[in-house]
Amino acid sequence: MDFLALKGETRLQGAINIAGAKNSALPLIALTLLTTNKVILENLPNVVDIKTFFSLLDMLGCQVCEIDSHTTSVEISKLNSTKATYDIVRKMRASILVLGPLLGRFGHCEVSLPGGCAIGARPVDLHIKALEKMGAEIRIEGGYIVATAKEGLKGTTINFDKITVTGTENILMAAAMAKGKTTIINAAKEPEVVQLCEILKESGMEINGIGSDEIEIYGTNMEGLKLPEKIAVIPDRIEAGTYLCAGAITNSQITLHKINPNHLGAVISKLEEIGFKLTFNHDSITIYPAQKRNSFELSTTEYPGFPTDMQAQFMALATQCEGSSIIEERLFENRFMHVSELQRMGANISLRGNTATIYGISELIGADVMATDLRASSALVLAGLVAKGETNIHRIYHLDRGYEDLEAKLTKLGAQISRLQE
Ligand code: EPZ
Repeated sequence: MDFLALKGETRLQGAINIAGAKNSALPLIALTLLTTNKVILENLPNVVDIKTFFSLLDMLGCQVCEIDSHTTSVEISKLNSTKATYDIVRKMRASILVLGPLLGRFGHCEVSLPGGCAIGARPVDLHIKALEKMGAEIRIEGGYIVATAKEGLKGTTINFDKITVTGTENILMAAAMAKGKTTIINAAKEPEVVQLCEILKESGMEINGIGSDEIEIYGTNMEGLKLPEKIAVIPDRIEAGTYLCAGAITNSQITLHKINPNHLGAVISKLEEIGFKLTFNHDSITIYPAQKRNSFELSTTEYPGFPTDMQAQFMALATQCEGSSIIEERLFENRFMHVSELQRMGANISLRGNTATIYGISELIGADVMATDLRASSALVLAGLVAKGETNIHRIYHLDRGYEDLEAKLTKLGAQISRLQE
């Protein structure tokens, strides 16, 4: 297995491009299951999760053709299965995103239950309850969700008990195929959900409330959609936030291109509160060194609040801020796996339930550490950039799921990082 060797005490400089958003590309790939035409997806991030999802569509009989490392076309006329098997779904829980489209368009499907992951149980009960309310018959059999809707799905009002990003996306795609109007109340408002809604609208769907927590959509009664021939995935706000934290933790000046600053509001204001100056225009952002980096408090919330996917990265940054910072994780029950690894590098962190107190400034010392999930791994990279000596980060297959060319981008910014074999 690969591991990353990182030399610490680094200052960064220069500029890099940010890739397309993994969490927008995934629902858009699922959306191609509703098309009647060939669709070319552009600005795809070149990461493992995207390849995994395309292999799922390939397994269903769709024609998936990679045009280049960021562009793939999908044509589904030869789809010959509606069964998403465990061997693929276990690799990537977001495969659950085929449930809504397959059931909505074809009236039946079997999708393996995704199971939990490092950051929590991550049930899909809200997805299932909503589809049942739309008329689906769903049973769990041998670890599979077996769903049928003989007369198709019916539009209705869906009240989500909790805000769920992929739950909202699944129901949007199911509702697009349903008969009549569906209203989703307590919908997720992430930019990735907004892009999905915008593409549905561009495909001629009547959809109201885009970007709000109440979305109305009028379905086609199982008629396929003519999607735009080319769809460019929006920039990845979490990758951008992660590199902003790389600049912040090393107190450097770096610039990120191909971003959308409007998607980074909570992250930008938290960095400014800590003491950083940031300047930006419509597609790039620059962070400058801070005179003093103050401790901070944050609670993760749904968009537009502070993103849970940036929690681990800010925890690494907090070790270099003066005073005690408080981080509360409100979305997932076990998203502090990075704490013990940061402590092994010398971070002074105490945990009480879902709240961490980070006492800064602590001097970090390079160590062998283990990645546990995608964003926790990126926090260890950030810590390794400032730690004394060398940090070796193991199990970096977690990183490869969601960060494109991480070593190349950090090397371009001046880091001393290499990928080695165990
Ligand atoms: C999406 O996951 C993202 N993944 C996650 O990013 C992100 O952390 C999460 O939203 C929250 O922003 C993708 O978009 C592919 P949820 P999702 O359903 O949709 C509970 C990354 O690092 N819940 O919004 O799976 C759930 O347990 C990944 O890129 C239920 O209880 O998250 C959690 O506590 C990690 N029942 C909360 O809701 C359900 O049926 C929010 O989960 C569904 C969710």
